[in-house]
Amino acid sequence: MKFFIDTANLDQIREAQALGILDGVTTNPSLMAKEGITGQENILKHYVDICNIVEGDVSAEVISTDFEGMIKEGEALAALHPQIVVKIPMIKDGVKACKYFSEKGIKTNVTLIFSAGQALLAAKAGATYMSPFIGRLDDISTDGLNLISEIRLIYDNYGFDTQILAASVRHTMHIMDCAKIGADVMTGPLSAIEGLLKHPLTDIGLAKFLADYNKGN
Ligand code: G3P
Repeated sequence: MKFFIDTANLDQIREAQALGILDGVTTNPSLMAKEGITGQENILKHYVDICNIVEGDVSAEVISTDFEGMIKEGEALAALHPQIVVKIPMIKDGVKACKYFSEKGIKTNVTLIFSAGQALLAAKAGATYMSPFIGRLDDISTDGLNLISEIRLIYDNYGFDTQILAASVRHTMHIMDCAKIGADVMTGPLSAIEGLLKHPLTDIGLAKFLADYNKGN
């Protein structure tokens, strides 16, 4: 299972990279705005900064909602750095743009997926990744993890290569449940990733080992 961090915060990206388990980064316009990164020039520069910190794929989202606009923007984003994956919304022109990029060998991440039907379309259009937002489904009393299971089943039925990138991950149990279901990738906040480290028995055990060592020294 690949681990992506879902943030535009460079310090958090550096911290996850330093842990040695990071496979990539996802961002979106809201995450950019949260870090105060606004204006096209600054946003493009920020993508390059992120690529220079991590080794894996970095999703950069188009703002256009029409086919021509998405193609123009996506090609410019892809030209920024070889690690860039063009992130496209799951709308009609987004599906067309996904197919276009897939035929050109440009990596894509189809975002804002909330149904198995949308996931099927993304795979048919040749998406590299597709992002079901599990936390936002949970927010409206709909089982986000069930969507991941449905997509896994459909993709396995037909051997689709599109990677299931579980997004809108909010906590460690989302990560563990996605791993059990077989999501290819999860993207979540640093807090959820670091949450996997924690167990009180580890802390108690380590404290005892150190105390016992110190008795003899
Ligand atoms: O990866 C998608 C993500 O950024 C959305 O997360 O927590 O805003 O639903 P959230």
